Amino acid sequence: MIRKVKGTYDILPDEIKKWHHIEEVMRNVAKLFNFEEIRTPMFEASELFHRSVGETTDIVKKETYDFADRGNRMNTLRPEGTASIVRSVIENKLYTNPSLPLKLYYYGPMFRYERPQKGRQRQFHQFGAEIVGCDSPLVDAEVINFAATYLKALKIDDIFIRINSLGDQESKQRYQKALLEYLKPNMDHLCPDCNRRYEENPLRVLDCKVDKENPVLQNAPKPLDYLTDSAKYHFEQVIIALDAIGLKYEIDKNLVRGLDYYTHTVFEIDSDLESLGAQSTLVGGGRYDNLYASLEGPDLPAVGFAFGVERLILALESIEYPIADNFIHCFFINIGDAFQTDALEIINDLRHGGLIVDYDFFNKSLKSQFKQADRMNPIFYLIYGEEEAKRHIINVKRQDSKDQVEVELDNLYQYLVNSLSGGGCSGGCGSCDGC
Ligand code: HAM
Repeated sequence: MIRKVKGTYDILPDEIKKWHHIEEVMRNVAKLFNFEEIRTPMFEASELFHRSVGETTDIVKKETYDFADRGNRMNTLRPEGTASIVRSVIENKLYTNPSLPLKLYYYGPMFRYERPQKGRQRQFHQFGAEIVGCDSPLVDAEVINFAATYLKALKIDDIFIRINSLGDQESKQRYQKALLEYLKPNMDHLCPDCNRRYEENPLRVLDCKVDKENPVLQNAPKPLDYLTDSAKYHFEQVIIALDAIGLKYEIDKNLVRGLDYYTHTVFEIDSDLESLGAQSTLVGGGRYDNLYASLEGPDLPAVGFAFGVERLILALESIEYPIADNFIHCFFINIGDAFQTDALEIINDLRHGGLIVDYDFFNKSLKSQFKQADRMNPIFYLIYGEEEAKRHIINVKRQDSKDQVEVELDNLYQYLVNSLSGGGCSGGCGSCDGC
């Protein structure tokens, strides 16, 4: 038997309700913040990720799915969404839009060759958002607020917002110098990967999973202490805006994030909900003011975030969640051996009117049809046979009260719609109190 590839998962019909809910809330909250959706390809030229996420990051070094196409071009399944959005904004000249900033959101599968575990897959989904073309600290606060509002709308309340600032290019250079000086005499105490990172990209030493608790890294200099005055001012303004919004956050001086493109504000939101297991970071993001220019685009400041959707699904497991049960409006029950061909027309008319209708294809017994119906949780059973056809009526039985009325076929749709909206028969069924 051919099995799914390690680190990938099927999302089965039983689970899809939660996914639809997460997607619906995402679209609603995006609308509240006036973001528009953008969809980009699932694979891009490999160079895009090498030059944006960073050659020396774990993502590019160890985790991308790269392949040569039949024309020998190197492509990569996208490991994240930001780089593709930047490519698309530049290529489609979206920045010429007179009403900058662009406020874009995206949703879809991403691919990273990581060691699979709960909350960490090789194919996973991200919901991300980016604001492009504005360097105001209000925008940093706006995306953090968007992420927090989305979690609130999902009723995920146990959250911790952690923020930090890496500063502008000059701050980053100052910090890198200080970090190199500090690390140099300590490299013997760090793992071989850290030693490689020290040479290639010292900031990445701080991402080390092996030496995370090592006092050498714990006591390393912090980016916040090397900010230029203007970077410090930017960060202070972000904090003032977050306070004004009323969001609770913690300044995490060790937060540097695992992608190279960040400048100024970086943030993550974690939750300690038990169902998340060890992968407790729901969303990560930050500002990346140099990425557009470094990919030969115009000098556009930008800031954004991405949620791991599988982690949101896990988080919802801990929450008593009122997602409506599956139901259908009507199950059509056929009496007698022969299926009444005009039943197909009746069923179709109801569906065209917006009602969810299902029926039995197997010519089952009456009892089995009711059993099958109950598994689908219908509001009405529609009962129809030769006798009903002759009299041009249909029997409508409510599943909850078991009340049954005869309704003229011509009035059926209206009767059902009125009953669903709490009203009764529109007149003419000849069987209910109103008639
Ligand atoms: P990231 O921190 O690499 O940032 O990923 C964002 C989120 O995606 C993580 O917090 C996590 O919830 C989820 N995630 C990442 N890898 C996996 C995985 N293997 N399995 C399940 N979930 C995962 C970015 O991707 C940036 N592009 C975010 C951003 C947007 N920054 C600015 N704009």
